Amino acid sequence: MVGSMSTTLEPPVRGTRMRDQLVRVAEAATTPYLPSDFMDLFAPLRSGADLRGRVESIHPETADAATIVIRPGADWAGHVPGQYLRIGIDVDGVRQWRAYSLTHGPRRDGRISITVKAVPDGLVSNHLVHRARPGTLVHLEQAAGEFVLPPAGGKHLMVTAGSGITPVIGMLRNLFPSTDEGVLRPERSAVHDIVVVHVAPSRPDSIFIHDLEALDAAGAIRLVARYDDEHGVLDVDRLSDLVPDLAERATLACGPAGLLDALAAHHDEAGISLTTEQFRTARVEPGEGGTVAFADGTTLDLDGATPILDAAEDAGKLMPSGCRMGICMGCVIPLREGSVRDLRDGAITTAVPGESGAIKVQTCINAAAGPCHFDH
Ligand SMILES: Cc1cc2nc3c(=O)[nH]c(=O)nc-3n(C[C@H](O)[C@H](O)[C@H](O)COP(=O)(O)OP(=O)(O)OC[C@H]3O[C@@H](n4cnc5c(N)ncnc54)[C@H](O)[C@@H]3O)c2cc1C
Ligand code: FES
Repeated sequence: MVGSMSTTLEPPVRGTRMRDQLVRVAEAATTPYLPSDFMDLFAPLRSGADLRGRVESIHPETADAATIVIRPGADWAGHVPGQYLRIGIDVDGVRQWRAYSLTHGPRRDGRISITVKAVPDGLVSNHLVHRARPGTLVHLEQAAGEFVLPPAGGKHLMVTAGSGITPVIGMLRNLFPSTDEGVLRPERSAVHDIVVVHVAPSRPDSIFIHDLEALDAAGAIRLVARYDDEHGVLDVDRLSDLVPDLAERATLACGPAGLLDALAAHHDEAGISLTTEQFRTARVEPGEGGTVAFADGTTLDLDGATPILDAAEDAGKLMPSGCRMGICMGCVIPLREGSVRDLRDGAITTAVPGESGAIKVQTCINAAAGPCHFDH
């Protein structure tokens, strides 16, 4: 038994050793670079490499929004419509990571797409919308997020505002694919009854309005489009005028914090189910700020309104980051001493050496609250 095992194992072991030796020879020959560095150059999307994508095309949607179509690397694991991915892109030589919702369901051609709205002074959004070019390599993380439709279907109301339409259009395109023959109604869509209330400053500013109107015309959804310049700002308390069977529908909403807060208060009182996706956290009044010191000797004098992550990056320090809104814990570093203030609710976290030890702090949603020292 043992003899037969060693007979069957020997050739692969020899093969593995030979491969290891070849790799070592290749590494020695290419030092200081590794062979994988060269493979990254020629086959950056290959299986086993860090997950990347190549921008294949960019399509303007409105004056300040564009859809970016990306060919993801071979290890892209797919997504559920409504989810987002984190994308890392070099802007002025510094890698920046931001989250963007996927605006299609899984596509036959294997590509993925995101739709980005350029926000005033926004570093990455303006770069992607106005300066990125086809051929650009970007870093990717696998899709994440719970903002998805239940496969069992049911009656839903989707409330979207501005770029908040992006995860919802991903769900709708997956349920009702649009082809040259018009909007299709595959079997999986039969269990869904969807009303969309879509809010935008004006019709020309309304991302995906043509898609939404086509879905409405085909009877796939009922669309209620509300433009601030025509209809005034949406009054959530009058939502049932627009959607008479509101109470029978579970609501999914994506938009600015003010709208989501108003919906939360309204739905809580009315006992209606609400699931939200937020692109940006609401902030409380800033505190006093303080001096932030890092383990490498970097010291920054910060106000009480700027997230420690933003300030450290602006100062050229490499920081871990993720969603940048307090969801993913990708930005957590140990606070050894001092206090920070949560910009969402004003809560103070304090680390006292010898007492509490280092406390893990989310730098994307915390500002300095007096002098503090990080082990990073
Ligand atoms: C789960 C998730 C999904 C997202 N999906 C999308 C999407 O599909 N499409 C999309 O365009 N964005 C989306 N975002 C927002 C996106 O991640 C970035 O926050 C946004 O593009 C701004 O990044 P920036 O680098 O341009 O701005 P920054 O340089 O980081 O910030 C510049 C200024 O803009 C403000 N700002 C930051 N974010 C916003 C915002 N969303 N709206 C208004 N002002 C802002 C900042 O407070 C700051 O004053 C999503 C965010 C999350 C967390
Ligand atoms: S970057 Fe996601 S929690 Fe801070």
